[in-house]
Amino acid sequence: MKALITGAAGFVGSNLARRLLDDGHSVVGIDSLTPYYAPQLKLHNLEGLRGPGFELLEADVNEVDLDAVLDGVDVIYHQAGQPGVRSSWGREFEVYTQNNVVATQRLLEAARRQGQLQKFVYASSSSIYGDAERFPTTERDIPQPVSPYGVTKLAAEHLVSLYGSNFGVPTISLRYFTVYGPGQRPDMAFTRFMQSALSEREIRIFGTGEQIRDFTFIDDIVNANRRAGEATAARPGEVVNVSGGSNISVNEVLDTLTAIAGHRLKVSYVERAAGDVHRTGGSSDKAADVLGWASSIGIEEGLRRQFEWAKDTMDVWTNLPENFV
Ligand code: UGA
Repeated sequence: MKALITGAAGFVGSNLARRLLDDGHSVVGIDSLTPYYAPQLKLHNLEGLRGPGFELLEADVNEVDLDAVLDGVDVIYHQAGQPGVRSSWGREFEVYTQNNVVATQRLLEAARRQGQLQKFVYASSSSIYGDAERFPTTERDIPQPVSPYGVTKLAAEHLVSLYGSNFGVPTISLRYFTVYGPGQRPDMAFTRFMQSALSEREIRIFGTGEQIRDFTFIDDIVNANRRAGEATAARPGEVVNVSGGSNISVNEVLDTLTAIAGHRLKVSYVERAAGDVHRTGGSSDKAADVLGWASSIGIEEGLRRQFEWAKDTMDVWTNLPENFV
């Protein structure tokens, strides 16, 4: 099978690429190495992927000749996008619309023209729910994003479903719930907490720390993508939660991390971030039905594995510019 991964140098994209290559597939990756965070980290993610079966196109989905890129591709894993909930306000919004909405529409048009795809897997997000109506939140609950980022992820998800229902493009959207683990982006909570813990800097908590997340370990996200790529019986336009089942507050995470690090952490509490939801918690029932998927890594084990990775990659981080996120 030949896969196209957009955002192949990113957190999810690079982990997914490694897995597909290990399973004997060939992978074309596209990544424009945007400066949202240090490109050195993305280059580090790519180490170990280079070699037979892997080709990287350093290009922007909004500019590259997608018809040529899609030649012979069986499955698209569309992971590229402008990430981050808290930085999507103000002038940055244009980047979010370009990289999340316009790029997705462009890729869908090319997928429609190509006509031979087995699957188009879109990386959607729990942020489309906003402050959800109920927990565990199901795919039938009304999406009400509370950040501009969430608005763009939802708009793109709607486009993905439309190309499924109108043109039969075999799409499926996976709503990821806060992904963590080795390779996590540097703007995200656990990476920031661990880098601070390891260098004895202060951890800054936005708000009270009582916010709750359904954190999902990266290997489980990769497994869900693998299953979605092969879910040929799923109806085009399907939308599925991929949620780890943790339901833990940020303060509880700090307690667990203190035990893992083996020393007290320096913590300060600052203003709540605009667009930050109070709680996420997804139902995995549909993922079980449609994909036969269930999460397998609990939060303690996952935090431990991310902490090991953070220690092992300290040399990469210490050579980054001061303001790398
Ligand atoms: C994450 C991703 O960053 C989004 O791209 C993704 O779409 C979203 O998950 C999702 O599930 O859809 P978020 O839940 O904010 O967003 O993930 P973290 O950055 O890991 O933050 C978790 C919590 O820790 C948030 O409440 C955040 O405000 C808090 N936090 C984060 C801090 O208190 N301090 C920090 O330094 C960083």
